[in-house]
Amino acid sequence: MVATDDATQLTTVDELPENDSFLFTVLEHDGSKGEVILVNGGDCIAAWRNFCQHETDQRLDRGFGAAMRDGEIICPKHGSMFDACSGHCDNGEAKGSTLLSVDVAVEDGDIYLTDRTCDFLHEGGIEDDDDEDDGMPSSSSHLTF
Ligand code: FES
Repeated sequence: MVATDDATQLTTVDELPENDSFLFTVLEHDGSKGEVILVNGGDCIAAWRNFCQHETDQRLDRGFGAAMRDGEIICPKHGSMFDACSGHCDNGEAKGSTLLSVDVAVEDGDIYLTDRTCDFLHEGGIEDDDDEDDGMPSSSSHLTF
């Protein structure tokens, strides 16, 4: 049994249907930020760093949910498929690689971040942090009436 007393609850199993994903941002212990995808692979609940192993600047979830089918995560760039439970890829450009795991635990239907290398910051991607000045126009500037 994994101690979840001081862990952050991410969501629940009921709120993460099979072949669905949940994107969140973490604070690394070196002060940088990282993105993580929590996935329901059918036989597992797992979490992975949100980038492909073929090109590490390629996000698996680009803010619209990771593409998933039959328990596999599909890289949006070249289509390699990673096993959602093991993180391993046996096909395409990323063949032979494995996604970087993030520790999570399920207890009584609740899903917790238990990884000791990072802390939960917020739901969504890094750029979804409203306070972040990333040089991009704020989302409200796209609104037209
Ligand atoms: S960038 Fe993911 S398979 Fe090429």
